[in-house]
Amino acid sequence: MADRGFTPTQLSARAAYLLRGNDLGTMTSAAPRLYPHMWSWDAAFVAVGLAPLSVERAVVELDTLLSAQWKNGMIPHIVFANGVDGYFPGPARWECKELAAFAPLGPDTSGITQPPVHAIALQRILDHSRRHGRSTRAVAEEFLDRRWPDLVRWHRWLAHARDPDQNGRITLYHGWESGMDNSPRWDRAYSNVIPGDLPPYERADTQIVTDSSQRPSNGEYDRYLWLVEQMRQVKYDDVELATTMSFAVEDVFVSAIFALACDVLADIGEEYRQPNADVRELHSWADRFRKGVVATADERSGAARDFDLRLGRWISTETLAMFAPLLCGGLPRATERNLLKIFEGPRFCGHPDLRYALPPSTSPVSKYFRPREYWRGPVWPVMSWLFSWAFARRGWAERSLMLRAEGLRQASDGSFAEYYEPFTGEPLGSMQQSWTAASVLDWICA
Ligand code: SER
Repeated sequence: MADRGFTPTQLSARAAYLLRGNDLGTMTSAAPRLYPHMWSWDAAFVAVGLAPLSVERAVVELDTLLSAQWKNGMIPHIVFANGVDGYFPGPARWECKELAAFAPLGPDTSGITQPPVHAIALQRILDHSRRHGRSTRAVAEEFLDRRWPDLVRWHRWLAHARDPDQNGRITLYHGWESGMDNSPRWDRAYSNVIPGDLPPYERADTQIVTDSSQRPSNGEYDRYLWLVEQMRQVKYDDVELATTMSFAVEDVFVSAIFALACDVLADIGEEYRQPNADVRELHSWADRFRKGVVATADERSGAARDFDLRLGRWISTETLAMFAPLLCGGLPRATERNLLKIFEGPRFCGHPDLRYALPPSTSPVSKYFRPREYWRGPVWPVMSWLFSWAFARRGWAERSLMLRAEGLRQASDGSFAEYYEPFTGEPLGSMQQSWTAASVLDWICA
């Protein structure tokens, strides 16, 4: 079907204009109204999109994020823009500076983390810098030298504080940490979260996305906020979180991203002569987490699972998480082929009613599928980008190009939506989402 939308040239110009519009100076807001601050994994994807426009500006984005790194190594999931209101929960609700021993003194941040995709951004920045002259290359390399220890500290915190059993899987204490807030992956774990005495609050998100069917429910929000209360009670202490939080899951998708990010950072370290001991450690984490991911996979289909630490049970869902091993590799060949067949077959990208052959966040054949509701079904362009990038890295050029072509067809409506209805292609959630524009820019300018 031919989509008469913007051409790639028009689209890339509009995406660049969008990022410029969302630029607050040294950070890019994740979206102009719904998310008026910097989000950790958004910032990394945004840097991927900024890199072809300006290596220097892309470096500033990651620098701002890393300036908010906690003293224990955690990169927080939100860095709040100074003096910007309109998002809940804001700094007053988290109170990290007041409560957490490791929170930075400078910027206000949230007290949880997000998927570690930052090494990918660094690699794209270095790739683009090599197309420029000496001064731009120097900016990228100076950044790498200066921030290398922080990036290793970030990975070390994940490998230690968030994998206390050393089984190669990252533990999360809040669904927001997965980035996939209300995915059916977490339904059962959340049914175990019973909000107690919750200080009153007012949601800001539903004032902006006024069709509430596109956002998590009020019941879900009560649980999200209750987990924040539980964290505040232990002052965001890593060790105490492990025993006190009513939500604790091993996230297989984040674990796969981490394995991949360790591979990428180790490659960069080798190429740019960073300390051997760091590179060795990164390789060892990559191995441990790849094995941790593969150990969750179904022997025949290769589908990966999360694990609920509180209920002591595996979480099998037909969501993007089942494809975690395709990101980091490690499955036996025949099993990997089976998993690719599911990815490309009628349960996901090959579903006959899809407008574009892109992976919905939840399979349309799952009983939990809701086509308009945030992570319960819609297609997220940034996830299509992540899979296309990872597939290219794994040597699957054709698969990668297919996702790119379909992703660009979807984006040709020019809305740069946060997510799309899979059957109709209707743009949903926030419009002018920075990471959607960034994905488009990388697809066009790679
Ligand atoms: N994604 C969350 C929100 O919707 C926060 O990380 O606000």
